[in-house]
Amino acid sequence: EGLHSLMVAAGKLFFGTATDVRYLLDKAHQAIVNNPSEFGMIVPENSQKWGELEKEKGRVDFTNADAIAAAAAKNGQKFRCHVLTWAAQLPSFVTSSTWTKEALTAQLKAHITTVVTHYRSQCYSWDVVSEALSSSPDSNTLSNSSIFQKVIGPSYIPLSFYWASLADPDAKLYYNDFNLEISPLKAQGVVDIVHLVRNFISPTGEKGKARIDGTGLQSHLFVGQVPSLTSLISSLETFTNLTSLEVSFSELDISHDSVPANDTQMEQQAQDYMTVVSACLAVEKCVGITVWGFSDKYSWIQDAFPGKGEGCLYDEKMKKKAAWYGVREVLKRA
Ligand code: G3I
Repeated sequence: EGLHSLMVAAGKLFFGTATDVRYLLDKAHQAIVNNPSEFGMIVPENSQKWGELEKEKGRVDFTNADAIAAAAAKNGQKFRCHVLTWAAQLPSFVTSSTWTKEALTAQLKAHITTVVTHYRSQCYSWDVVSEALSSSPDSNTLSNSSIFQKVIGPSYIPLSFYWASLADPDAKLYYNDFNLEISPLKAQGVVDIVHLVRNFISPTGEKGKARIDGTGLQSHLFVGQVPSLTSLISSLETFTNLTSLEVSFSELDISHDSVPANDTQMEQQAQDYMTVVSACLAVEKCVGITVWGFSDKYSWIQDAFPGKGEGCLYDEKMKKKAAWYGVREVLKRA
């Protein structure tokens, strides 16, 4: 039995992974992606980002993202859609133009409406807004380095949820960010965002017309620095009590500070994965876990943080690591 089957048997909705069309030619990798018992939820790591979909203004190309959606549907896997309003990986026509507030608002609305309409009824959830909060240091204030915050101001957040709600009444609408499980201040920032969305008054004057259903805790973590199980459970309980929304671990990986890792470090990594999985199982409103890639061969970490990595459940040869067996053990016990 794979991790997703065990996760469902433990009462949760999914154990999933991110994947990318770049890996389609790797047969060994693809066989694991296509196994619905192992991964019951698939999310495109890059293909639905604005900068990938609309490289040229007005020419939206869904080919790559559609290929991932079609494979997930064929395998009977849930499909998570990622991501609508994110200040990174934007098309150059967005980042290099000078925008008025009205023009960028209209452009963002068109983007969200087009993309959400295209995937209507295919997505379990949409990551509507990602990483709107300031980090380093983590805080509860909105990041000023976002073009949306700079040009539109804070209303870009409830507006994004509003347009997404209109275009797909069924997909769960998520806010997605990192360090929420370790920074109470940043988590408070998300609570504020949830209220901002709930109190939003639509252009036609109706209050509460923008929907938000959940929060994704990215959880790009490091071995040996994962909070204790009690502290993780307590932050998740506090957070879900304040928002009354579901949460999921949305981009989980637990990397080593330096690679290659030795056996002791791999055991610690297994313990850390077990802690995160146990926390989700223990918190009623935690609905599932998605890893941000499952093989060390293709993880984004080594590109973004040279010298660090090996944060996945499978090694470069698609062999299950101690962490995978640890996760299975926790799920079996549940
Ligand atoms: O678009 C070019 C493509 O044309 C070229 O062929 C290819 C060759 O290297 O590079 C492509 O761009 C890369 C892109 O991934 C798509 O493959 C970028 O250089 C690379 O920086 C980009 O990295 C992605 C990163 O987001 C960008 O910020 C990672 O794969 C992806 O895992 C990562 O994911 C994000 C989540 O979406 C949001 N949360 C944080 C997470 C980690 O940064």
